[in-house]
Amino acid sequence: MKRNILITGGAGFIGSHVVRRFVKKYPDCLIVNMDKLTYAGNLMNLADVENEPNYRFVKGDIADEHEVEEVFCSYEIDGVIHLAAESHVDRSIADPMSFIKTNIVGTTTLLNAALKSWGHNLQNKLFYHISTDEVYGSLGSEGFFTEQTSYDPRSPYSASKASSDHLVRAYHHTYGLPTVISNCSNNYGPNQFPEKLIPLTINNIKNKKPIPVYGKGENIRDWLYVEDHAAAIDLVFHRGEHGKTYNIGGNNEWKNIDLIRLLCRILDDKLDRQKGESEKLITFVRDRAGHDLRYAIDSSKIRSELGWRPSVSFEEGLERTVDWYLENNAWLEEVVTGQYLTYYEKQYANR
Ligand code: NAD
Ligand code: TYD
Repeated sequence: MKRNILITGGAGFIGSHVVRRFVKKYPDCLIVNMDKLTYAGNLMNLADVENEPNYRFVKGDIADEHEVEEVFCSYEIDGVIHLAAESHVDRSIADPMSFIKTNIVGTTTLLNAALKSWGHNLQNKLFYHISTDEVYGSLGSEGFFTEQTSYDPRSPYSASKASSDHLVRAYHHTYGLPTVISNCSNNYGPNQFPEKLIPLTINNIKNKKPIPVYGKGENIRDWLYVEDHAAAIDLVFHRGEHGKTYNIGGNNEWKNIDLIRLLCRILDDKLDRQKGESEKLITFVRDRAGHDLRYAIDSSKIRSELGWRPSVSFEEGLERTVDWYLENNAWLEEVVTGQYLTYYEKQYANR
C-alpha cells in the first residue's frame, strides 16, 4: 500500500536503521524523517539514503505544534512511527526537564496533530509509539516483563516514557485514535552514540581509556541487535493489532561486567593486543543513582502472534558491531569531536 509515513527521531541510533529499512523496502511509500538534531541526531547515519526519491528530511521539534502540524499537512501523513526521544538515563538524572519536554509534551503534540489532521477519516491511519522495557521498573533475579506487568518507572527517563505510553493509550481509548505501542529491551549495533554502554566500552578500549563500570557491574540487561528491532517495528507497524502493546526482547541477558569482559577479549584479539590487556582498563566507579538491577523481556506475544524472532545471535551481532566501530573511525571521530553537528548545514543548507 502506498503510504506517507512520518518517522520521528530518524537521525538517531534506532531511527536511522528504521528509516533505512523503510526507504529501501517500501519504494512506493514516502518516508518523512522529522528530527530536531539534538546531540544524539546524526545525519551521517543516513548518508546512504539521503538522495533516495522516497525520502525527505525535516529538521524540526516534535514539541513545536506549528512545525508538527505543518509536516502532517504538507506531506499528507497517514502513518507515524514515533522514535524521537531523549533516551539516556544518565542525562535524565542530570536534566529531567528536557525529557519531560520531548518525551511527554512532544508525544502529546504529535498525538494532537494526528487527531487534528486525520479527523474522522481514520481508515488506514496508524500512530505507532516506540517505547522501552524500562517503564516496567526493575526485576530481581527471577521473572520477566510481560505486556501485563504493571508500570513502575524509576528514573526520569523511564517515567517520561511511561507517561508517553499512557498518553498514547489514552488517545486510543478516548478519541479512537488507531495506535500501537512496543516496548523493547536494550539495543546495540552500528551508529549508537558512544555514551551508551557498548559503544562507550568499544571506544574506550580502542583509545586505551578507563572503562567506567557503575557499582559492581552486577546489573543485568537483555540485549537485542538493532536491525532485529527494526524488523520487529516493521512487523508491528504493518500487522500489529490496534490498541495493543508488544514486548520485544533478545532473550539475551548479560551482567554488565561479563559483557564488558567479553568486549575486552574480542578487542584484544582484533587489535592484536596481549590477552588481558584491555581488562586492565576496567574501572569501578560510583553507581548510577537509582540504578535498576535487571531488565528481562518476555517476548512470547510478538513471537507467537506476529512470528517475529531475533535473527542475529549475540556473538554475530557483537562481532558486526565491534567491526563497524573499528572500520568507521571517521564516524566515531566526528561524533567525539562534535564535527557531525555541522553535517546538516553542509548537506542541506542549499536545498
Ligand atoms: P537516540 O537518542 O539515539 O535518538 C533520538 C533521536 O531523537 C535523535 O536523532 C534526536 O535528535 C531526536 N530528537 C530528540 N528530541 C527531539 C525533538 N524534540 N524533536 C525531534 N527529534 C528529537 O535514541 P535511540 O536509542 O535511537 O532510541 C529511539 C527510541 O527508541 C526512543 O524513543 C527510545 O526511548 C526507544 N528505545 C531505545 C532503546 C535503546 O536501547 N536505545 C531501547 C528501547 C526503546
Ligand atoms: P546504558 O547503555 O546507559 O543503557 P540503560 O541504562 O538504558 O540500560 O547502560 C547499560 C548498563 O550499563 C546500565 O546498567 C548502566 C551500565 N553502564 C556502566 O556500567 N558504565 C557506563 O559507562 C554506562 C554508560 C553504563
